[in-house]
Amino acid sequence: MIANIKQVSMYENLWREQGKKLPWFKPFTRVLDWQEPVAAWFGDGEINASYACVDVHALGERKNKIAFYWEDEKGNSLSWTYLKLYQEVNRISDVLKRFGVKQGDVVVIYMPMVLEAIATMLAVVRLGATHTVVFSGFSSQALKDRIDDTKARVVVTADMGLRRGKVIKLKDIVDAAIVDSPTVQTVLVLERTQGSCTMKAGRDHFFHDVVSREDVYVAPLPVVSTNPLFVLYTSGTTGQPKGIVHGTGGYLTYARSALTWTFGLNDESIYWCTADLGWITGHSCVVYGPLQLGVSQIIYEGSPDFPHPGRWWELIEKYKVTAFYTSPTVLRMFMRFGIEWVQRHNLSSLQVLGSVGEVINPQVWKWYHEVIGQGRCPIVDTWWQTETGCFMIAPTLDREEMSLKPGSATFPLPGIEPEIVDVHGKPVPFGTKGFLVIKTPWPGMSLGVFGDSERFKQVYWSKFPGWYYTGDYAMRDKEGYFWLLGRADEVLNIAGHRIGTAEVESVVVAIDEIAEAAAIGVFDELKGEALVIFAIPRQGLQPGEELKIKVVQSVREHIGAFVTPRGVYFVEKLPKTRSGKIMRRLLKAVVEGNQVGDVSTLEDEASMDEVRSSFNELKAAIL
Ligand code: WT7
Repeated sequence: MIANIKQVSMYENLWREQGKKLPWFKPFTRVLDWQEPVAAWFGDGEINASYACVDVHALGERKNKIAFYWEDEKGNSLSWTYLKLYQEVNRISDVLKRFGVKQGDVVVIYMPMVLEAIATMLAVVRLGATHTVVFSGFSSQALKDRIDDTKARVVVTADMGLRRGKVIKLKDIVDAAIVDSPTVQTVLVLERTQGSCTMKAGRDHFFHDVVSREDVYVAPLPVVSTNPLFVLYTSGTTGQPKGIVHGTGGYLTYARSALTWTFGLNDESIYWCTADLGWITGHSCVVYGPLQLGVSQIIYEGSPDFPHPGRWWELIEKYKVTAFYTSPTVLRMFMRFGIEWVQRHNLSSLQVLGSVGEVINPQVWKWYHEVIGQGRCPIVDTWWQTETGCFMIAPTLDREEMSLKPGSATFPLPGIEPEIVDVHGKPVPFGTKGFLVIKTPWPGMSLGVFGDSERFKQVYWSKFPGWYYTGDYAMRDKEGYFWLLGRADEVLNIAGHRIGTAEVESVVVAIDEIAEAAAIGVFDELKGEALVIFAIPRQGLQPGEELKIKVVQSVREHIGAFVTPRGVYFVEKLPKTRSGKIMRRLLKAVVEGNQVGDVSTLEDEASMDEVRSSFNELKAAIL
């Protein structure tokens, strides 16, 4: 791709300057070595992420600055200075080291939203090792899959987490996930309530029994820029989630740049990103981006509407939050509760509001702007993905003057070159919907799929040769603004969380009584999309309520309660294309009560007639 290489060099100066802002142990001389699809950013530089996020502040002027204010649903609160964060990171790092963790290892972290979880992430990377944070809403089966895939020897967890006043026994879930694990040798447990979990002698250790004194020091290991910082699993179009690998120097540079350019984070910022650490937003927008910038942050353990729907606004008032970042799904929920809950609080400290995870529709955007931002704060709608590391399309500070458009993520960040193309890879004119691709490498891009470089190539770099395929639909309006239009592949977005239809289907067909299944997303006012399952029972079987419950339970057990299906329908047949592809769009139309309508965007060879007859057959086939 000769054209690409030319464009890349145009951006090299930009990224060289951005890269230089990091505290390298060994400065880089090369900006980019690009061997599609793998980019080595700052490849000959050496750095350590824990040092860049913690030591630079704790050993400098921000020593006594608050890094984190933490609160839970009950109103318990804590604050950690950068020095305290530094001490905790060192203590945990020392423990991990004694349990043999070293560069090349992957440590699995399955923890609630507590400050020790952040310290653990940083403690792992301090040793040059790699972490995999698993969202604590995932089931033991999902956790087991991730532990097995990464061959982790050490798992870090807590006895329990708290959500909506309920105790979630995380350690029990870990125990179930590792009963016959061939790799796990050590489980470190943060004990929050005495005696609340069982411990296996020799394998399980409480933090408080194994950590050393406060002043223990573990030297951060300088690693090459491309050393894997973390693996984060995300859903795609197959039954198996992919372990997205991010590197160190490029990723850190990108996260730092993106947060500066959009939210304008600086020393005065009091910043609250509400994402869980288990998602990419928690990685880039709670840990690696903001910590490099030395800001003060809020961490909340619990659910947004508990114990009352004003809880979050109360916290914004209490801590005088200046930058707030959340998801449309939560905003829709708050809209329902009514503005009284907001108006009780003084939100005048807010300066900028962010949104992420799915399209923010104009109505929600306006509510966010008027009710939360009181018309003062720009809305930063950030489009990005686990794979991209940080924001790709979002309003930047120098564009604040420019009018924002409710529902549009506006324009790409500096150095990012998106394009919208048709099925043949030809750019479409403004006003036409197409596939969103990225034409040149950027420092935040993923290094690949853990243990499967072929899969990385095939999923992201083969549909449109030479370009990164995002899997999203988009359109530009006549002024060039980007409008994201949802997934173009078979991936659902349930309350901002990505779930592959194939992943759900493989769980359902594993049930003895089920022969075939199709998972679809249907419109849901709160979650954006809700999961609905169509299943064909085995021949001769009369499906009833019991089997429905079994399907629901199975999805919850294998993936997690956050993907609980809204409905399960048993059918005799599923509509398919001639090539055997399930036509989920028709199923969706049936559930939503819509006509099939326009079929011109169908990507397969199915004829119109086929579409119509499948649709009618399906309607007739619902038992
Ligand atoms: C998918 C990525 C990026 C962190 C959270 C989700 C959708 C994300 C937006 C947005 C429209 C969005 C896309 C994307 N998405 N942000 N601002 N507007 N859609 O990360 O789980 O990797 O999911 O979320 O469909 O491909 P993820």
